[in-house]
Amino acid sequence: MGIAGEENDLKKDQKSDDEPLFIIQVTDPHLRKEEDGELLGMNTRSSLDAVLQLIAKNHSVPDLVLATGDIAQDGSVEAYRCFMEKMGVFDSPVYWFSGNHDNRDAMKQVTGAGDKGALEKVVRIGPWQLIFLDSLLDGKVYGHLEESELDVLNKALTERPDLHSMVCFHHHPVDIDSEWLDNIGLKNRDQLLELVDRHANVRCLMWGHIHQEIDQYRNDVRLLATPSTCVQFLPKSKDFAVDTLAPGYRWLQLNNDGSIKTGVERVEHIDFEVDYSSKGY
Ligand SMILES: [Fe+2]
Repeated sequence: MGIAGEENDLKKDQKSDDEPLFIIQVTDPHLRKEEDGELLGMNTRSSLDAVLQLIAKNHSVPDLVLATGDIAQDGSVEAYRCFMEKMGVFDSPVYWFSGNHDNRDAMKQVTGAGDKGALEKVVRIGPWQLIFLDSLLDGKVYGHLEESELDVLNKALTERPDLHSMVCFHHHPVDIDSEWLDNIGLKNRDQLLELVDRHANVRCLMWGHIHQEIDQYRNDVRLLATPSTCVQFLPKSKDFAVDTLAPGYRWLQLNNDGSIKTGVERVEHIDFEVDYSSKGY
């Protein structure tokens, strides 16, 4: 399946230098060291492969690829090596950072070999800057942004008020009408949102963690969340519940005027095993 009504706009091979940025976001692949590693019954390596194949079918080379946390389910070096190997299909920079299931030390072991994608904090391209924050609080499922992370954001926004800014992290900074998920969001969201409100150049906040699609606004700032490349969570559910929707990804077109075109695509016609009776993950 292509992108309804958008395919022609988004093909990189039709781009010139003054055209918009095109970005792919994948999130929450939850890889394990074992090749047959699963999350809630789904083989997460296979589902990531299926998503990557769909991306290759729908788009040519993006300007950059972003993975917004929960790269590994088990925090293993092997899982991160597997992730980097799979993301090697992209002939573009790949940026990634941690979620609550990740292990920073293991990520650093892998990225020390030359891939700095997991360490980058600010990327500036044309009239845009992307700022990547680490909301992992060791040992906790909910998230927290340390002062040092908020300082990175404040510095980037202050330094370049002329750049449209997209801020990316793992945990959701707003409630999503799902009690169990709202208990494990970004705990110091008020600090983040107060900082964002002080700057006029923030166009978008984007995250992973909730394994479902969100596209809404807070004031004039776009709020985006994206399906996992593996199992999905049921929206607006009070208690933990798995959704029947398929693995997917998000594409984004960042326009020079600060507007954003975006959409979610999901794998079709592949049967994935999922344990719908699970009470948690
Ligand atoms: Fe996740």
